[in-house]
Amino acid sequence: MGAINLSKSVLLFFFVVLSAVYRSSSATGVEANQTVSLVINASETSTKYIPKTLFGVFFEEINHAGAGGLWAELVNNRGFEAGGPNTPSNIAPWSVIGNESSLIISTERSSRFDRNKIALRMDVLCNHEGSNTCPPGGVGIYNPGFWGMNIEQGKTYKLVLYARSLGPINVSVSLTGSTGSTLATANIVESDVSNWTKIELTLQAKGTDANSKLQLTTTRKGVVWFDQVSLMPTDTYKGHGFRKDLFEMVKNLKPGFIRFPGGCFVEGEWLRNAFRWKETVGPWEERPGHFGDVWHYWTDDGLGHFEFLQLAEDLEAEPIWVFNNGVSHNDEVDTSSIQPFVQEALDGIEFARGDAKSKWGSVRAAMGHPEPFDLKYVAVGNEDCGKKYYLGNYLEFYSAIQREYPDIKLISNCDGSSRPLDHPAHIYDYHIYSSANNVFAAAQKFDRASRTGPKAFVSEYAVHGSDAGTGSLLAALAEAGFLIGLEKNCDAVEMASYAPLFVNTNDRTWNPDAIVFDSSQMYGTPSYWMQHFFKESNGATLLNATLQSNPSNSLIASAISWKDTDNKNHLKIKVVNFGSSSVALQLSIQGLEVNSLQSFGSKKIELTSADVMDENSFQVPNKVVPVSSELDDVGEEMDVVLSPHSFTSIDLLINSNNVGLVGPASYVDKSSYYKDIKMY
Ligand code: AHR
Repeated sequence: MGAINLSKSVLLFFFVVLSAVYRSSSATGVEANQTVSLVINASETSTKYIPKTLFGVFFEEINHAGAGGLWAELVNNRGFEAGGPNTPSNIAPWSVIGNESSLIISTERSSRFDRNKIALRMDVLCNHEGSNTCPPGGVGIYNPGFWGMNIEQGKTYKLVLYARSLGPINVSVSLTGSTGSTLATANIVESDVSNWTKIELTLQAKGTDANSKLQLTTTRKGVVWFDQVSLMPTDTYKGHGFRKDLFEMVKNLKPGFIRFPGGCFVEGEWLRNAFRWKETVGPWEERPGHFGDVWHYWTDDGLGHFEFLQLAEDLEAEPIWVFNNGVSHNDEVDTSSIQPFVQEALDGIEFARGDAKSKWGSVRAAMGHPEPFDLKYVAVGNEDCGKKYYLGNYLEFYSAIQREYPDIKLISNCDGSSRPLDHPAHIYDYHIYSSANNVFAAAQKFDRASRTGPKAFVSEYAVHGSDAGTGSLLAALAEAGFLIGLEKNCDAVEMASYAPLFVNTNDRTWNPDAIVFDSSQMYGTPSYWMQHFFKESNGATLLNATLQSNPSNSLIASAISWKDTDNKNHLKIKVVNFGSSSVALQLSIQGLEVNSLQSFGSKKIELTSADVMDENSFQVPNKVVPVSSELDDVGEEMDVVLSPHSFTSIDLLINSNNVGLVGPASYVDKSSYYKDIKMY
């Protein structure tokens, strides 16, 4: 018996070695330099449940992400407030049509809105008849939007403005293309606007030009005041004001949460320029707007506290509100004087969650959302730990919010990954911007983090500097490795988001970013596409995945099981090859019922490119995007060649008998919402 057993073992050994050699060189015709095994234990005994919020997004008003970006308002500086509250003031980017003999443009503090007093005054000196005849096109002002307005043939645009004059007015409103062609036009003819009058009209475009402008002109002598001039496309997402193409790019990531509105934007260089939510709610015309002094631009705050909460709801993502805690980059409020800030935070929570009859809940209801928003997380400041009053202020916020809203989870700015926090918190914030090697190595960062204390929120991560350029494959691979590390540590990490999310290419204050756009186009950087590999992870089950050998530690892998909306079970195995050699990966999946993997519906998805520094661009937006291919020979033992510098996902469909694999029943896959979007 013993001899027979031995020879059987020897035979089996040779069979395994020979088949391994054969498999490593023949898998797809690509010669692999190294062979590595990845063993996955798909049995229930070795699982962790991944939080439904693990992967989300972080929206900051930076790089004109909102103003001139996701917020679809086309007029830049619609209330003429960007030049400051005193007169005379600069009205840029508004410009004058006509010369000094035909009109004088000035600003006055005569608006009907108390929180934004500046209005534009237009003294028209020329006339349609008489000695000083106006030029044929009239005189007036134009607004170029945010580096050009994207006006599209057949689409409609809603114009709202406030006007006043001592006599009758006849103002021509037109959308003009970059070559001077008129794409849409309408006339405002009013006999009595002696009091400020709201004027609304719809323009339909008969041509397309991504670099259009809005003109307000007249040939009638007299004085006209304008204020709060808004032009919105009517096809925003659900009419909620979000530019549809950019919204869809975010929605396609299936974010579990959205952190907003910053970042440093929340802090300000100086407290007087910080984002303060009360200045951003109510009718848009009444909002004062503010100059974001960290990222150096004015925003009319059309995208305010309400709109951020609405955005979260539309994305079906948990809102995570970051509020100012009395600390900016350069000044701080002493803890003994922090109570007004604490009340402001409590009011902001009441605005989101309060009954429609409550003081602030009623403001929300008047804005069209009587039902409360589902706000469960707030972050006390941004990157402020260690500042003089941070801890003192934090404790005031913590106790006041816990007293009134015991279910709300508070996020501290202090890093609790290496040692316990010295203050109470539900979650601690952690940011990482570094070289590709450092970010890849940080996959192990949370291996030894506490499993009993607060969990981590990696609310900002990205490869930064020369390794990243404006969005390289190298950066995406390092970040993918880092996220796999977070996935494996999902009992210590609650959430993670890339930063920044957006850049308007005309205001590249921060590189790299996930989504690049201008007035009419957009594309995802490799880091954006990398995040698509994690969109099934929220609420899924993490399986034990072990690399048996890992040359130069250049590989990292994870495996999850998840369930789709049709209740079908899937296995997703992700591997980053951070090295410059190809690898023959021998996959061994244990713990499944025999023959339960299905070829049909199984695929391999790969993110790679010829050069590791390759980037996408408006010219070649799909240079580095995930590519999907069929998998041959699907089974418990499989061979896959990993290209040099690549991120690969093996997506396997499991026969429905193996239901035990898949995590919490409450998890709902949302992939059906995105069926019309071309993904891989
Ligand atoms: O993401 C850009 C900036 O980086 C954020 O505003 C800030 O929190 C971090 O320093």
